[in-house]
Amino acid sequence: MRDFCMDFSAVVSCFLILVPILTVPTSGAKSRHFRWEVEYMHRSPDGLEGVVIGINGQFPGPTMRARAGDTIHVELTNKLPTEGVVIHWHGIRQLGTPWADGTASISQCAINPGEKFLYRFKVDKAGTYFYHGHYGMQRSAGLYGSLIVDVREGDKEPFEYDGEFNVLLSDWWHKGSHEQELDLSSNPFRWIGEPQTLLINGRGQYNCSLAAELSHSQMSQCKFRGNEPYAPRLLRVQPRKTYRLRIASSTALASLNFAIGNHKLRVVEADGNYVHPFTVDNIDIYSGESYSVLFTADQEPSNNYWISVSVRGREPKTPPGLTILNYQPTPASKLPISPPPVAPAWNDFKYSLALSKRVFALKGTAKPPARPDRRILLLNTQNFVDGYTKWAINNVSLVLPATPYLGSIRYGLTKAFDQTPPPDDFGREYEIMKPAGNPNSTYGNGVYTLSFNTTVDVILQNANALKANVSEIHPWHLHGHDFWVLGYGEGKFTGKDQEKFNLVNPPLKNTAVIFPYGWTALRFVADNPGAWAFHCHIEPHLHMGMGVVFAEGIPRIKKIPREALGCGLTGKLSLKNGGT
Ligand code: C2O
Ligand code: CU
Repeated sequence: MRDFCMDFSAVVSCFLILVPILTVPTSGAKSRHFRWEVEYMHRSPDGLEGVVIGINGQFPGPTMRARAGDTIHVELTNKLPTEGVVIHWHGIRQLGTPWADGTASISQCAINPGEKFLYRFKVDKAGTYFYHGHYGMQRSAGLYGSLIVDVREGDKEPFEYDGEFNVLLSDWWHKGSHEQELDLSSNPFRWIGEPQTLLINGRGQYNCSLAAELSHSQMSQCKFRGNEPYAPRLLRVQPRKTYRLRIASSTALASLNFAIGNHKLRVVEADGNYVHPFTVDNIDIYSGESYSVLFTADQEPSNNYWISVSVRGREPKTPPGLTILNYQPTPASKLPISPPPVAPAWNDFKYSLALSKRVFALKGTAKPPARPDRRILLLNTQNFVDGYTKWAINNVSLVLPATPYLGSIRYGLTKAFDQTPPPDDFGREYEIMKPAGNPNSTYGNGVYTLSFNTTVDVILQNANALKANVSEIHPWHLHGHDFWVLGYGEGKFTGKDQEKFNLVNPPLKNTAVIFPYGWTALRFVADNPGAWAFHCHIEPHLHMGMGVVFAEGIPRIKKIPREALGCGLTGKLSLKNGGT
């Protein structure tokens, strides 16, 4: 124990944790330039060496910070030796720049090894965002980082705090992402299993626990020699001060619960939108979501406290991710006196649902149009296609085409993908509580074409998976828009459920979850010309076909940079036209 403490404090001294709030005096919006190289690196995110995708030698990638209204320029060089890459700016709507959304086969061609691509886009709204790879399973391989947008110069957040921390959460497997891809695409199907480690800002501890003695676990106590890349980053606080935690989840699979021992969390922002503040002991956070929570360091300052991240929604086989809230000047080596906070039972979905239902928009947030012009019901099922295990939406399992939709639709290349749109509904007699009578489905790559500027309701309907009595959580993420979350319900959605929609203060989000056997209703306005992915943010599920594509207003798009189109049929087209 003594050894551990001494080593631990040595590590702590080299931590620089508190991120100062940006106070550069500026007049108006800025252009911010970044030069990034994406490459494979040997790293030990949890103490065991593996391969990660890093940016400029960093894992997670560098934290990007800007002010609302700024224009970001990222000149990205692909230094992966043999595979393409793209980066998606999760939560940024890409108003007017649909080609910069960073979705391979949807908004652009993957950037080839050795090539550069210039992402240029405006961050129009303050909030907590992140970025990540959006090609194959490169997010699982560690290609992600934080993107923080501060309010415009002279503007104020609708809450106050003295300091802030960035908390990017992820999950980590010892099996590489390529092997995982193959496992998921094999027949017989091989599931990737639960992650070995939960990472907080890219750091976790695989074969030891910081809290081993306190939580009576079988694990040994963590020992650090100093400057290990997997030593936890502590959060150092001054007594009585209030802090903002910007929490985002880039997990490939895990739904998480976040808690700080003895401290309450006040939720103020979700997915880059302000919410009506509410106080919780802990918060569930699904892959693709972000939250800002405030807490005040108002506990006994001679103690330290656990910060704990646990798995929800699937039987946890992964130990909690831990770090320490360190009150200054208490030595960081002083372990908290009580064990880490325990998350609600993994299958307590009532708890999760109740929490999701507490999220309302802050007063003054834009309200949804009163009525939709179109309603799309999307049934989520697990299926077989030619004997392979897949996920399907209205019986179609998405397989992305070789030519990105943005270019093929803009230039009328009807051979690029199936011109028959996928269905807006599923058979009303479908029994969501049971495994499907006929679990066979088909591959598809058709598009939902939305009339420009119309209001669209999407009802996500969950159902039983292939195995009896199994229905999973799916966090759905929409590109290019925020949507209003109008409501959650249990069982099969009926027309009557519309009467219960919240049209008064529904939260604006870009990711919303469907609970087992439940439905979630979303509304958005199709006002952003482009081709937009809408998919389950669980990476293996997306890989298995769990997504759809929306397209709207594409004829209005004036120019798509040639670099975004150099593959498939658009690639041939630009050759024919002499490269214009
Ligand atoms: Cu964060 Cu399409 O994803
Ligand atoms: Cu899913």
